This record gives sequence, structure tokens and C-alpha cells, in this order.
Amino acid sequence: MNYRHGYHAGNFADVLKHTALCELLRLLLSKDKKLFVLDTHAGAGGYDLGGALAGRTGEAEAGIARLAAAPRAGMPAAVVRYLAAVAAYDRKFGPAAAGGGPRRYPGSPRLVRAALRPGDRFVACELHPGDALALKREFAGDRAVEVRQADGYQALKATLPPPERRGLVLIDPPFEAADEFERLARAVRHGLRRFATGCYAIWYPIKDTAAVADFLGAIAAPRLLTLTLRLDGEGESGKLAACGLAVINPPWRFEEAMAEALPWIAGVLGGRATLVAPPASAPAPASGA
Ligand SMILES: C[S@@+](CC[C@H](N)C(=O)[O-])C[C@H]1O[C@@H](n2cnc3c(N)ncnc32)[C@H](O)[C@@H]1O
Repeated sequence: MNYRHGYHAGNFADVLKHTALCELLRLLLSKDKKLFVLDTHAGAGGYDLGGALAGRTGEAEAGIARLAAAPRAGMPAAVVRYLAAVAAYDRKFGPAAAGGGPRRYPGSPRLVRAALRPGDRFVACELHPGDALALKREFAGDRAVEVRQADGYQALKATLPPPERRGLVLIDPPFEAADEFERLARAVRHGLRRFATGCYAIWYPIKDTAAVADFLGAIAAPRLLTLTLRLDGEGESGKLAACGLAVINPPWRFEEAMAEALPWIAGVLGGRATLVAPPASAPAPASGA
């Protein structure tokens, strides 16, 4: 396990994933019913963009820093809300830097925690011992968050279906293993068998488009919305420059919000975005999302 999210925090992939995550949370939490959230691959929780790891790659410069510096006029509401969530986390560490991007960046568990209401439940899993310890420290004394140093795929089997019957499952693996797509597809199919009405958000890199197509076909979900973001000059530097988020059972109005936000984000970061919606005939789940 070599992957450390600290090298990549706040990059273009986080911008896509976390804008969508904030919107999913907002829409799912607008219903007056308890929600269960599972973050299977949670990372360290929060990141110092001026620290050694982020500083080594500078990836946040082409992601969150560029977005935070964009003019507010015409900014889609979902992006405004995402930037507000990032700024709220950054402010915990002191006053905002004048004109610059954030110095601290919230990982998915921090974004989830900030959105939850009393009574909602959140399980965050992280396998890497160092990042799991950082995550435990990030939420020390916070009884609303259950941090597990555990395999997120096993946790998915153990926690679904949740007693709340409403849930959001974020699956964000590091893709270090050659068979990650197959493992991921098996986990999603298993999750859907146990909890068909849950909302699932699954991040994936786009390097091999055939592998991505196989994966999306293999998860066989009727209500599947895919969002992709590709930076211009994709692949030139050998760095990842295209990724996607597959959202199963998206809540009402999520597609609309992303259809507005994604092209705008792509314009600011310098790239292209796509949104592929489920066919209109796909049946909505009976309950849950
Ligand atoms: C892409 S990062 C997660 C980033 C985080 N979701 C966010 O958005 O801020 C993937 C994380 O999964 C962890 N990991 C790898 N294999 C795992 C497994 N089987 N179960 C749980 N965590 C795992 C890695 O250590 C890494 O921290």
C-alpha cells in the first residue's frame, strides 16, 4: 500500500468527486429521515496543502486553487457550496489567506461530517495504518463518526443494508491493484443485492477506456449516472488527467445540478466534462435515495 492521498489532495479528481459528494449529501439530507453514510476508502480526513506531500506534486494548483480563484459571477450553485465547504474547513486552522486558495483541504470524511445532522450515522474506513491513525485523530472525541482501520470492501458487506434504510456509499479506491476494477464491480454488485435502494458514488481513473466500459457494464445498475472530467493535454505528462464518478440511484435534482456545474468546472480547470444520464425509462428505487 503505497498510495497516500496527501500527494493528490485538492487535485482535479478531488474537485469532481467532492463537488458531487457535497451535492449528494445536500440532496439526501434534505429529506427528514435519518441517513447512513459509508466511506469505504476514507483517506486521512484532512490535508495540509502547504505540507511536504501536497508540495511535492503541486496538484492542488490545477484543482482547488484554480477553482477558488475563479470569479464568483456566474458560478454554479453547486460549486459555490463546495467552495464554501472547503473554506469552512480551512478556516478551522486560522483566517483565510488573502486571495489565495485554501491551505488546508477537507477529504471526503470531513465533507461528510460537516453535512451530517444529529442522528445520522457515518462509518469511515481506511486501511493504511498511518492514514487510519490520522483519520482517528481528525475525529477524536467525535461520537458521530465511527473510524475503522479496516478493508472498505469488507465493511460494505458488513454494514449493508443499514437499519436506516437510507444510505450513501462512497467508494474511492486508490487503484494500486491491477484487479481493482473487478474487485470494485464485485463489491458494487454485492452492495446492490443487499441494498438496492442505496445511493452509491464510485470514483475511477480513466486511463484505459475499454476497462472503464467493462466496469460500468459489469456493475449493471439501471439508474446509473456517470460524470467525467478530462483535463486538456490528457496523458502528456504521464500523470492522471481524466477520471469519472459513477453515481447509482442519484437523488432527484442531482443530475440537474451536475449538468450546470460540470461544464463550468471543466472551463475553469481547462478540460472537458461529460454527463451520461440513465435512460428515462429506468425505474426509480422504491425508497431510499
Ligand atoms: C483515493 S484515497 C481516498 C480519498 C478520500 N476518499 C477523499 O476523497 O478524501 C484511497 C484511500 O484508500 C485507502 N485504502 C486502500 N485500500 C483500502 C481498502 N481495501 N480499504 C480501505 N481503505 C483502503 C488508501 O490508503 C487511501 O488512503
